[in-house]
Amino acid sequence: MRLILYLGKGGVGKTTTAAATAVRAAQLGHRTLVVSTDVAHSLADALDHDLSSLPVQIDKNLWGQEINVLDEVRQHWGELQEYVASLLRRRGVEDVAAEELAIIPGMEEVVSLLHIRKQAREGNFDAVVVDAAPTGETVRLLTMPETFEWYAMRVMQWETTTMKMARPLVRALVPATDVFEVLPGFVEQVRKLRATLTDPSISSYRLVVNPERMVLKEAQRAATYLALFGYPIDGVVLNRVLPEEAGGEFVEQMRVVQERYRRQVHELFAPLPVWEAPLFPGEIKGIADLARFGGALFGEQNPTQVFFVGKTQEIVKEGDEYILRLPLPQVEINKVNMTKRGDQLFVEIGNFRREMILPMTLADRPATRAVFRGGVLEVRFGPPQPAQPTPPEQGGSP
Ligand SMILES: Nc1ncnc2c1ncn2[C@@H]1O[C@H](COP(=O)(O)OP(=O)(O)OP(=O)(O)O)[C@@H](O)[C@H]1O
Ligand SMILES: [Mg+2]
Repeated sequence: MRLILYLGKGGVGKTTTAAATAVRAAQLGHRTLVVSTDVAHSLADALDHDLSSLPVQIDKNLWGQEINVLDEVRQHWGELQEYVASLLRRRGVEDVAAEELAIIPGMEEVVSLLHIRKQAREGNFDAVVVDAAPTGETVRLLTMPETFEWYAMRVMQWETTTMKMARPLVRALVPATDVFEVLPGFVEQVRKLRATLTDPSISSYRLVVNPERMVLKEAQRAATYLALFGYPIDGVVLNRVLPEEAGGEFVEQMRVVQERYRRQVHELFAPLPVWEAPLFPGEIKGIADLARFGGALFGEQNPTQVFFVGKTQEIVKEGDEYILRLPLPQVEINKVNMTKRGDQLFVEIGNFRREMILPMTLADRPATRAVFRGGVLEVRFGPPQPAQPTPPEQGGSP
């Protein structure tokens, strides 16, 4: 089974790409489900077919589904939430505050991911393509299994330490289920979910971008966080590239700007493959349009294959230093120059220039040294420095 998730800034073309991938996969004979987890569903529009919260068959080998996350939470986890609230009330927390606190962080996200995993296992699909909400929310979604686990462990600890005596009382309050017995099972499911989501032979994350500055920034940030949490990225979709046949002075001016960002995309995300889709003159709606879009994107390739295996970046701790490792196989060894400004790191090796967004852990540490060895760039970060009125720039060379 393959699970393919498309991420990107609002409006870049995630829904179109996810739907097109599913259409191509189905046409190649894979039983494929395309699922939307975005509250603002637009998948039905792209497919030009009504969808519901259960998989609906759209074409040969192709199913679509729009999950209503809030409903899911209410239906399946309402009792758990009610229980946590009762627990808090018993500890003297006022009603309203207890209700509020009982909303387990990340519950919605975890529930929608669990649902996708369940669907993929029980529905016998070869491929599940996920059309997600814009990046910020999705990255949050992907970090949730961990946050959730931490939270659930805490709740379970209350049980073992302070709540044992109150158990019969709690039972009386929530007679339908014994949540204490449900929760460990749920934690176990979340653990399995994370194992699925980080297994590169099952899950692939693909970034969708347009040749524009702000879009690229957000995608880089997403790439950093995905790498940090161990979610395997296997490619980048560069959408809305002006087609060669388009002309005129206005278009030519746009093309100059696009070309710059287009080159950057290939450099920034190396060694990941970059698939390009042209800007279409009209809207992309329905199976035929999506098949055309998918064809332009993947050509003869099978979009369900794993296109890249390996770490796109890695951060390890060594003593009180952190080391960022960046494989750059296509770069010739040369002098390395780097500049760090807040959470941005600029690295120059010969003609190759890369701008990276650093995760929080590294942003407040000085970059002390950069070396390029065996096709891998290694940047060292020392201990955080006390705040200074104007942050100095750090430079370094091997
Ligand atoms: N290459 C393209 N050429 C022309 N139109 C496109 C192209 N890609 C996407 N579109 C159109 O742009 C609009 C937005 O695309 P889409 O819904 O796929 O983006 P999205 O990233 O899912 O947006 P959101 O973040 O709102 O979910 C749609 O109307 C779609 O048909
Ligand atoms: Mg969308």
